Amino acid sequence: MVTKLVLESVSKVYKDSSGHETTALQDIDLSIEEEEFVAIVGPSGCGKSTLLSIVAGLTDATAGSVYFDGVFDKRNPRIGVVFQEHALFPWRTVQTNVEFGLEQLGVPKRDRAQRALELIRKVGLQGFEKKYPHQLSGGMKQRVGIARALVIEPDLLLMDEPLSALDAQVRLIMQDELIALWETVRQKTLYVTHNIDEAVALADRVVVLSRRPGKIVRIIPIETPRPERKEHRHQVRLMEYAEEIWNTIRRDAEEAFMEG
Ligand SMILES: Nc1ncnc2c1ncn2[C@@H]1O[C@H](COP(=O)(O)OP(=O)(O)OP(=O)(O)O)[C@@H](O)[C@H]1O
Ligand SMILES: [Mg+2]
Repeated sequence: MVTKLVLESVSKVYKDSSGHETTALQDIDLSIEEEEFVAIVGPSGCGKSTLLSIVAGLTDATAGSVYFDGVFDKRNPRIGVVFQEHALFPWRTVQTNVEFGLEQLGVPKRDRAQRALELIRKVGLQGFEKKYPHQLSGGMKQRVGIARALVIEPDLLLMDEPLSALDAQVRLIMQDELIALWETVRQKTLYVTHNIDEAVALADRVVVLSRRPGKIVRIIPIETPRPERKEHRHQVRLMEYAEEIWNTIRRDAEEAFMEG
């Protein structure tokens, strides 16, 4: 059983070929519980993508550690990743794109097909199994990306601006779909977004990062139960959360401006 994800004093310094250093992240302490959805917001360049990339194991941290607390089996944690540019294989169909992660895990062909179909249905793309990415709308491509991440039954979901390439209307629809889908898997999630309303709509906690180097300025728990967030009676409270987050970011930006 894999339990929570723990980040302990994670820092990242990039060094270019001339030796110039950029501190992207500084002393990030964060733990994500089982069944918790955590959103990360912060100004452009504050290290959000770097953080996801470190957790995914694609980039090494310069200092600190990332671990899964309570790993009782030898299996590596399975991580499902969804990026902004859905990164689908253009030469594969919807079906075989979704099957990709299962292929990597060595799942036999018959099971692969069945599990992929199940997920394709879950994200509302039944009938599109044989289509190629260029035949799909942006929202549909992102549904394929989400299906591909979920089909492996991940221990952790990492999403980097997954809806930001979509127009505002489709984005709102996809937010609702994502909430519904997430409620069926309830797997720990790190979700990066620029959109504060989106963070408040989706997350259990919103982590606000400072401008570069990215540090955690504040963590705001969103107490309103997720399934009720569309209800009218909660709208004022949700707006207050968004305002609180926005004020935190603004104060940070103003300090940066004063410092020159
Ligand atoms: N491979 C790299 N080599 C050198 N510097 C990098 C590299 N990747 C990112 N950086 C720098 O690290 C900082 C953080 O970048 P990162 O992409 O993590 O920010 P971000 O918060 O995701 O930004 P955005 O909101 O624009 O997506 C930036 O200053 C960026 O220029
Ligand atoms: Mg980024």
